Amino acid sequence: MCGIFGYVGQRNDAGSLVIDGLKNLEYRGYDSWGIACKIDETLSIEKDIGKISGIKTSNFSDSCALAIGHTRWATHGGVTTQNAHPHANEDETIAVVHNGILENYQELRAYLEKKGHSFKSETDSEVIPHLIEEYMKETGDFASAARRACKDFEGRFGFLALHTESNTLVAARNGSPLIIGVGEDGYFIASDIPAFLEHTKMVQYLDDGEMVVTDGNNIIFSNLETGEAIEKREIEITWSVEQAQKGEYDHFMLKEIMDQKESVARAVNQNEDQILTLAEAIKNAHGTFLVGCGTAATACMAAEYFFSVIAEKHVNFAPASEFKLYHHFLKPKSLVIVVSQSGETADVLEAMKVAKSKGSKVLAIVNSEGSTIDREADYSLLINAGPERAVASTKALTGQMAVLMLIAYAMNDKLREGQKLLLETSSKINDMLNPRYVNFIEELAEKIQEKSALFIIGKSWNYPMALESAIKIQEVSYVHAQGFAGGELKHGPIALIEEGTPCIALVGNDEVKADIISNAIELKSRGAFIIGVAPENNEVFDVWIKVPDAGNAQALVNIIPVQALAYFLAVKRGKDPDMPRNLAKSVTVK
Ligand code: F6R
Repeated sequence: MCGIFGYVGQRNDAGSLVIDGLKNLEYRGYDSWGIACKIDETLSIEKDIGKISGIKTSNFSDSCALAIGHTRWATHGGVTTQNAHPHANEDETIAVVHNGILENYQELRAYLEKKGHSFKSETDSEVIPHLIEEYMKETGDFASAARRACKDFEGRFGFLALHTESNTLVAARNGSPLIIGVGEDGYFIASDIPAFLEHTKMVQYLDDGEMVVTDGNNIIFSNLETGEAIEKREIEITWSVEQAQKGEYDHFMLKEIMDQKESVARAVNQNEDQILTLAEAIKNAHGTFLVGCGTAATACMAAEYFFSVIAEKHVNFAPASEFKLYHHFLKPKSLVIVVSQSGETADVLEAMKVAKSKGSKVLAIVNSEGSTIDREADYSLLINAGPERAVASTKALTGQMAVLMLIAYAMNDKLREGQKLLLETSSKINDMLNPRYVNFIEELAEKIQEKSALFIIGKSWNYPMALESAIKIQEVSYVHAQGFAGGELKHGPIALIEEGTPCIALVGNDEVKADIISNAIELKSRGAFIIGVAPENNEVFDVWIKVPDAGNAQALVNIIPVQALAYFLAVKRGKDPDMPRNLAKSVTVK
């Protein structure tokens, strides 16, 4: 998803401040960027294709107190400088950066062209400054014209508009997140908190159907439809600036993999009464559903096994994008547990809507405090992983599984046992992730980097981890990877195995160990090169990646070396693991 950042206030370095903020949003992925600053009453726009990293912030005037910027992933219109945001009106008094898609932009553009407006780009976004300008002829003021324009938009949007004459910023939201940072000397508006985290930790959230206007001194939130003013609470973010930085690591992905030395323990640090209440809610629910996307979906799948083995309770997993079709099974007494790192994923929000329309209660397990999912759920638990900035989700997964496992233990009146297991597991992860271990995985990546395909097998909770392993390897290294339930191999996938095909077997010291080893033997006898991730070595393994024995929490430790393998495969193959192609950190479109 594209990044938005803007500032208005008393500082005179808004240009470089916005550029720095955009650099903090780079992890979201983008193909072009741009910035608009008000300098001496006129608008100065600079934009380009490619990466922003090389730009010197000193190029930007230090006499600017109003600026907006954008990092763009092309959707409507190719990757060109003209299509990069900000877009401006004819006389360059209004500039806009926009996330989302205006579905009726062609119609609006035709209307505006008839009124004499001319367009420079192929984007849907460019209609916004022109429409605001057009309506200003009637309303006279910028904010009411922006409100009126929003009423014409069909589709999802989050936009930030700057007006040089009134020295104001207006932001409006319908589907794409925007957050206001309340500074001591002005206001920041961004699509994501890391843009302004080094300036302020006090935030206000803009909700769907709302608009905000600020001149840097005052700020007014209002309902987009009615114009009625809305009171907003200021919330203090607990994330630290250091947590949001790469520190000693080359990439965020590696930093976040290593963060798991501590993040699992942080996830376990939950309010006990709340966990017990939620455990009770699941026990009493008429049907519990676990819903998430991508990596969060694999955490949900793993939790299906946790609830079955630990709590002896049947819960249903569904990918959020499929959940709509489950509405027949939802009742007011059903409970829907949504799992999301960003708390902004569109398919998950849609699943929540479906649940709410049936009167079902929603429990959210999220990482991003104050995100839409966190705020809109009936109950919410934070996994406390700290900011996750690499596109590939790593520490959020283990945090999500830890919280879900804790609830499963609490359901069986064994909360203490669950806490003990997970804290011990956390300390085992800490021991495991030593430099020698990480080097070993790097060397393995070196060895298999040229392979064109990789398969991963697991059973029980290691089955969803096999699926998750495939997601990690695919998304950052672009190697074809597929995960299977070990027992499913002989029903088709085994035909893909050739001499030397690398196959990872995820193994635990559990009741399915003999079965998964036997599946690995089946693969080896067809020529596969077996990489065993297991607490104990086995003669079928060509390479053994040793992991601690973590009992019921084995899934949490087994996935970590595979995350590292995916990371090193990407690096060895010359790919940037933090910014994989075609992917965005938070997927706010359906
Ligand atoms: C993969 C990955 C994605 C996300 C998915 C859901 O590494 O990061 O599959 O897990 O887009 O995102 P959240 O958890 O933010 O809802």
